[in-house]
Amino acid sequence: MRDKLPNGRPSPSLTTTLVGFTDPAIIGLKRLEWPEPAQSELVFAPVADHCAQLTARELVAVSKSVASRRAEFSTGRLCAHLACERLGVPVADLVADEQRRPQWPQALAGAISHTDELAAALVAPSAVYAGVGIDIEGLGRVSADLVPRLLTREERTIDGLDPAIVFSAKEAVYKAINPLAGAFIGFQEVQGRFDLAAKTFSMRYTGEHEASERLESGRGYWREWRGWVISVFVIDS
Ligand SMILES: CC(C)(COP(=O)(O)OP(=O)(O)OC[C@H]1O[C@@H](n2cnc3c(N)ncnc32)[C@H](O)[C@@H]1OP(=O)(O)O)[C@@H](O)C(=O)NCCC(=O)NCCS
Repeated sequence: MRDKLPNGRPSPSLTTTLVGFTDPAIIGLKRLEWPEPAQSELVFAPVADHCAQLTARELVAVSKSVASRRAEFSTGRLCAHLACERLGVPVADLVADEQRRPQWPQALAGAISHTDELAAALVAPSAVYAGVGIDIEGLGRVSADLVPRLLTREERTIDGLDPAIVFSAKEAVYKAINPLAGAFIGFQEVQGRFDLAAKTFSMRYTGEHEASERLESGRGYWREWRGWVISVFVIDS
């Protein structure tokens, strides 16, 4: 199964694509090395209003939204459409369900993240990965009062770990597992194990929803770049 790509193209590793950036220094983002997901596409773009490129059904989703929401949504969709296309599975509409989960084509597993500046979509073949997650957060931007809510007691004792990395890792996990298992998972229901040297993480699930236990088989990675932490989480098919 592992060598099967929707378009049959041999692409053993993750390909990173940058769209619409003007600053040449941005190339560093493309050069970040990600061990996984293989055979997959990661697309980044600066957040701007791309509503003109949305499909009619996608546009409806943000027709009543404020400008900042329209920009983040449309840039996320721009990245997602390109990633799907590059995997040989162009999508007409990437609409969300009532819980905001984008409805990816059956052949693909994907996730979207956006900040006010940067958006990304990660898309992988579902023959290889049942779920993938991506999340971007600002390093150092989790305020002290939020730490007890987002980090478990044990996570708070890890020396040199920015709480934003834990926060980002957990949101990437949620985006990978929630479409598979369906249940809400609180920040205190997962316990992260972080390897600061390798920049890898795994999660233990301490909640009671059986299907969500699958997240324990997933593998996580994070990279820091220009004040951002970018986290990726993958769950095998
Ligand atoms: C869903 C959630 C993770 C999104 O994170 P965020 O920081 O608000 O926003 P991001 O920009 O990183 O990601 C937003 C994108 O996530 C995607 N998304 C939203 N809900 C999702 C879900 N339930 N499953 C998968 N993807 C989801 C959407 O594509 C959304 O963008 P869009 O609305 O423009 O399409 C967050 O709002 C949330 O509900 N967290 C609580 C649960 C959690 O994280 N638990 C941690 C322990 S596992």
